[in-house]
Amino acid sequence: MEQRHRPAAAADDTTKRRATKSKSFKDVENYEVLVLEKNCGCKFKSLRYLLIAIVSATFLTLLTPTLYERQLQSSSRYVDVDWIWDKTGADPRYVSSADVQWADVYTAIEDVSAGNRELKIGLLNFNSTEYGSWSRILPESHVSIVRLEHAKDSITWPKLYPEWIDEEEESEIPSCPSFPEPNGRRGAWFDVIAVKLPCTRVAGWSRDVARLHLQLSAAKLAVASSRGNRKVHVLFVTDCFPIPNLFPCKNLVKHEGNAWLYRPDLKAVREKLRLPVGSCELAIPLKAKARLFSVDRRREAYATILHSASEYVCGAITAAQSIRQAGSTRDLVILVDNTISDHHRRGLEAAGWKVRIIERIRNPKAERDAYNEWNYSKFRLWQLTDYDKIIFIDADLLILRNVDFLFAMPEITATGNNATLFNSGVMVIEPSNCTFQLLMEHINEITSYNGGDQGYLNEIFTWWHRIPKHMNFLKHFWEGDSEEAKAKKTQLFGADPPNLYVLHYLGLKPWLCFRDYDCNWNNFMMREFASDVAHSRWWKTHDKMPRKLQSYCLLRTRQKAGLEWDRRQAEKANLEDGHWRRNITDPRLKTCFEKFCFWESMLWHWGEAKNQTKSNPAPATPATMSLSSS
Ligand SMILES: *[C@@H]1O[C@H](CO)[C@@H](O)[C@H](O)[C@H]1NC(C)=O
Ligand SMILES: *[C@@H]1O[C@H](CO)[C@@H](O)[C@H](O)[C@H]1NC(C)=O
Ligand SMILES: *[C@@H]1O[C@H](CO)[C@@H](O)[C@H](O)[C@H]1NC(C)=O
Ligand SMILES: *[C@@H]1O[C@H](CO)[C@@H](O)[C@H](O)[C@H]1NC(C)=O
Ligand SMILES: *[C@@H]1O[C@H](CO)[C@@H](O)[C@H](O)[C@H]1NC(C)=O
Ligand SMILES: *[C@@H]1O[C@H](CO)[C@@H](O)[C@H](O)[C@H]1NC(C)=O
Repeated sequence: MEQRHRPAAAADDTTKRRATKSKSFKDVENYEVLVLEKNCGCKFKSLRYLLIAIVSATFLTLLTPTLYERQLQSSSRYVDVDWIWDKTGADPRYVSSADVQWADVYTAIEDVSAGNRELKIGLLNFNSTEYGSWSRILPESHVSIVRLEHAKDSITWPKLYPEWIDEEEESEIPSCPSFPEPNGRRGAWFDVIAVKLPCTRVAGWSRDVARLHLQLSAAKLAVASSRGNRKVHVLFVTDCFPIPNLFPCKNLVKHEGNAWLYRPDLKAVREKLRLPVGSCELAIPLKAKARLFSVDRRREAYATILHSASEYVCGAITAAQSIRQAGSTRDLVILVDNTISDHHRRGLEAAGWKVRIIERIRNPKAERDAYNEWNYSKFRLWQLTDYDKIIFIDADLLILRNVDFLFAMPEITATGNNATLFNSGVMVIEPSNCTFQLLMEHINEITSYNGGDQGYLNEIFTWWHRIPKHMNFLKHFWEGDSEEAKAKKTQLFGADPPNLYVLHYLGLKPWLCFRDYDCNWNNFMMREFASDVAHSRWWKTHDKMPRKLQSYCLLRTRQKAGLEWDRRQAEKANLEDGHWRRNITDPRLKTCFEKFCFWESMLWHWGEAKNQTKSNPAPATPATMSLSSS
C-alpha cells in the first residue's frame, strides 16, 4: 500500500481532493470501505464527533445517517481521517499517554483566541475523539488535522546520532535518514499548531524518534504558516518539556498542566530546520567553501569556567592567548568562584578574560569531594544573558585556527563524543535565564552518566548539531589505533600552519609537566594521552605570550615532586619509551615561588606513605594535586 505519498488532507481540502484522485488515494479508499463495514456500528462515539466536525465545517446543511454515510463514501474525507488517526494511533511510538485536560488547553489558548475568534488550528497526533473535543471547546475555530506519516521503524535514535561518521568523506558521504513531511495543502497556514507528544518519562525519554519527528513537523508547519507578520503559536500537550533548543523556554507564552503554548521565533526556527535532523551529518562541512558569519559581534563571546582549584589558571590564560593569536577579537568571559585568588584573577584579566564571579553548583548526586562534585557550575554559562551566543571552551584546550564562524550556529553545536552524545568541551550555547532554570529544575531527577556536566547536558539537549572533530580534537590515542592512525594524528597535532581548529589536552596538562616532554609518558594510567608533538605545540603558544603571563605557569613544589615520583615509577618499570631517562632542562624546575621549595624532601615522605598504600599510582594527576588547595 502506497501510503507514503498520500495527498494532502487539511479538512477544507475536499474539493481539491475530489478533483485529483491519484492512484494511491484510491488504494486508501478501498481500504476505507473495510474500515466502514467494521467500524460503522461500534464507533458511534467517534462518528458523533465526526458529525460535529462536519457541522462546524458547514459542509452539510441537512444531515441524515444515510446521507452521512454516502458523504463518507463519496468524499472519503472524514472516514479517511478517522481511519488514519485511529489506525496509525496504534503505532506505539506515537501513542501519547498524556491526559488532555481540556480546561488547561483552553486556558493556554484563551488569549490567542480572544484576539482572533476564528482561529485556524492544525492538529498533529490527536485522535478522532480529541478532534471532536477541540471543535467543541473552540466552536468558532477551524480545526483541521494535519497528517503525518510515521517515521520508518528502521529510524532509531542511534541511526540519527551515530557515534562515528566519515567526517572527512574518505570513503563515503554521511547522510541522515529522512522523516516524512507533514502533509499540508500548498499555501495552507494555521494560527495554532497543536501537537500531542508522547513521553514515557522513563530514563531516555528525551531520545525518542517520534517525539523529535512530531516537534520538527510542528516547527515546519509554524514556519510554513508565517507569511507577513502573522503570529503563529505552537501548543504541545505533553508530560515532559519540549526540545529546549528547538522550542526555547523564552518563547513559552503559557504553561498550564501539561499544555505548553509557544510563540516561536520563526526566523530562528527556520534556520534550525535547515540543519541535519541529527548528528548523522555534519552541520558545518569540514571543508566548507564559504562560512557564515553572524551579525552582532558585541553579543557574542568565548567563555570558560574555573572553579574549585587553581591548577587550570595557566591553561585558561594560554587558551585566551591562543584565541587572540588565531585572530579573534570577540569578548572573552571567564566564570570563576572564590577559590581563584585575586592574584590569579589579575592574571586572567591580563590575558584578556573578563572575570565574572560565580557561586559554584553542586551535583546533588555526586559523592563528597569527588573530582566532579562541582561540575554543574558550568550551567552558569546560561546566565550570561548580556550575550546571545557563547562558544564555551574547556580551559585545557588551544584554539589553533579561528572558529568565530561557530557563532552563526545554534545551541547546542558540538563535536561527537561516544554513543549518541556530544562532547561538552567545545559547545555553542544560547544564554537564557529560563534555560538555566530548566537545567536547575531537573538536577535531582536526571542522572549524569559520568557525574559531570557533560552527562547531564546530554540528557537535556539530546537534539544537537555535529561539527567536525577537528574543532575539538582530543589528544588521545586509542589502544586499537594502528601505527598509521597514530602517525596521522601526530601529524595533525604538529602541522604548521595548523590543520586542526582546536586541540584538547586530555590527561596530565602540558603546563603541569616539564616542557621537555609530555609527562603522560611516565604515568601508567595516562600513557594513552602522551604526545610530545602536541605537548610542544602547547609550549609554542606559551612562548609567544608576554613574560608576565608566563609567570602564571610556574610549577609548584608539590607538582615537581609528583613529576619526579612518576618518573621514578617509570624508571623502575623500565618503560621502553625511555622518556624517564631524559634530563630535565626546563628552567621551571629550578624556579620556586612558594615558601617551601624543597621538593625532594616531599618525595622521601611520599616514599614511606606510598609503601603502605599501593592504591595511589598517580600523584601528578590534577585530582590528587587539587587536594592541596592554595
Ligand atoms: C483517543 O484518545 C483518548 C485519550 O487517550 C481515548 O480516551 C480515546 O478512546 C481515543 N479515541 C479513539 C477513537 O481512539
Ligand atoms: C559512552 O556513553 C554511554 C552512555 O550512552 C556511557 O554509559 C559510557 O560509559 C560511555 N563510554 C565511554 C567509553 O565513555
Ligand atoms: C537574567 O537574570 C539576571 C538576574 O538573575 C538579570 O540581571 C538579567 O537581566 C536577566 N536577563 C534577562 C535577559 O532577562
Ligand atoms: C569536571 O571538572 C573537572 C575540573 O574542572 C574536569 O577536570 C573534569 O574533566 C570534569 N569532569 C566531568 C566528568 O565533566
Ligand atoms: C643527564 O645529566 C647527567 C649529569 O648531569 C649526565 O651525566 C647525563 O649524561 C645526562 N643524560 C642525558 C641523556 O643527557
Ligand atoms: C616498602 O616496601 C618494600 C617492598 O616493596 C618493603 O621491603 C619495605 O619493607 C617497605 N618499607 C616500609 C617502611 O614499609
